[in-house]
Amino acid sequence: MAYEYIRRFERLGMGMFVHFGLYSVLGKGEWYLVSNPHPDKEAYAALPAKFRVRADWAKGLARTAKRAGAKYITLTTRHHDGFSLYDTCGLNTFDAPHSAAGRDLVAEFVAACREEGLVPFFYHTLLDWHEQSYNSDFKAYIDYLCESLTLLCTRYGQVGGFWFDGMWDKPDADWQQDRVYALLRKYQPEAMIVNNTGLDALGETGHHEIDSVTFERGAPAAVKIKDKPIAGEMCQVLNDHWAYAKNDVNYKSVSTFINDLVDCRRYNCNYLLNTGLRGDGRVNPTDKCLLGEVGKWIRANKNFIYGAHGSGMACDGGFVLEDEKAWYIVVKDVAMSADPNVQRRLAEQKVRVDGRVAGKAYWLDSGEKALLQDGNLSVLPYDYGTSYSVRVVKVEKQ
Ligand code: GLC
Repeated sequence: MAYEYIRRFERLGMGMFVHFGLYSVLGKGEWYLVSNPHPDKEAYAALPAKFRVRADWAKGLARTAKRAGAKYITLTTRHHDGFSLYDTCGLNTFDAPHSAAGRDLVAEFVAACREEGLVPFFYHTLLDWHEQSYNSDFKAYIDYLCESLTLLCTRYGQVGGFWFDGMWDKPDADWQQDRVYALLRKYQPEAMIVNNTGLDALGETGHHEIDSVTFERGAPAAVKIKDKPIAGEMCQVLNDHWAYAKNDVNYKSVSTFINDLVDCRRYNCNYLLNTGLRGDGRVNPTDKCLLGEVGKWIRANKNFIYGAHGSGMACDGGFVLEDEKAWYIVVKDVAMSADPNVQRRLAEQKVRVDGRVAGKAYWLDSGEKALLQDGNLSVLPYDYGTSYSVRVVKVEKQ
């Protein structure tokens, strides 16, 4: 079926975004060169010699993604600093094989994804602080970009998609989008094409070939469909930086991520949760822990998020997702019952759903029968000892 690859993408539900590059060695975020008030450019130029990447980095990453419940990983194959994790095969020497790593890291990434049954996606920058032609000869820059993308299209087998970023840097330039996307379609006809519209244009559709809109750090919303299906994806950062920033402790909560995730599914969007790897390719322990807790919630709720999508059923006090076999009533901020000295027992929440949502009903996380009568759902607090924040009632379609 035409556009089946877009539906397939939607069913992946959750992915992991990975920022990894020279900047990971510094540990001050991927915008260090441009956003830091006093960047040490010489130190940055010396980073390739310090980019020593562990042999098992990609395996560790893929395992972390799987534990987090991700079905795909979107890796920064080249970020704004222009450094490529892949072998540029002579286009320049600013790549992983010419660094201390001494090898093609994209090849290792793709192999590790496949081993864990995850789909590899390639993030690729459009704006480039390193390639001179970006500012002096834009046509030549697009040639360079196309040659780079041809390598990514032809050397790593089938990939899930391409995730572009940075067009907003030169909104009026001739990016030759027809040419760039035609190249991808030629070599990777089943690959998703995503082009991040950035913080100021959440969910905006662009060129006809684009298959998914982005909601960078925003809130997912219904995607405006034009003349073809278009998916949606919201990327979220764990703290305030995409790349590893050792002095950033401003982490969001696991509960925030779970809420984001169910909100995404409500609008048929995917959730792309980020981690910034350490310079040697290890997952930062704090990130690993937060991501792992998200995975725990997904597993506790019987992995329903992958196939479920918005149902459009009316619901007060929550919302209803569905798949072929069931409806899922999602209720947020569910309290925990306990002695008043331990936790204040909140008033019982009231949820009313469309009366057509009826059948055998039970709480996904405990298997307990749910009380659903004439569209009224009794939301009982968790028993002391459990608190999953967002709870889900599965109602089997008869
Ligand atoms: C922004 C930033 C970039 C980051 C991306 C992730 O576009 O420029 O550093 O990779 O967001 O969505």
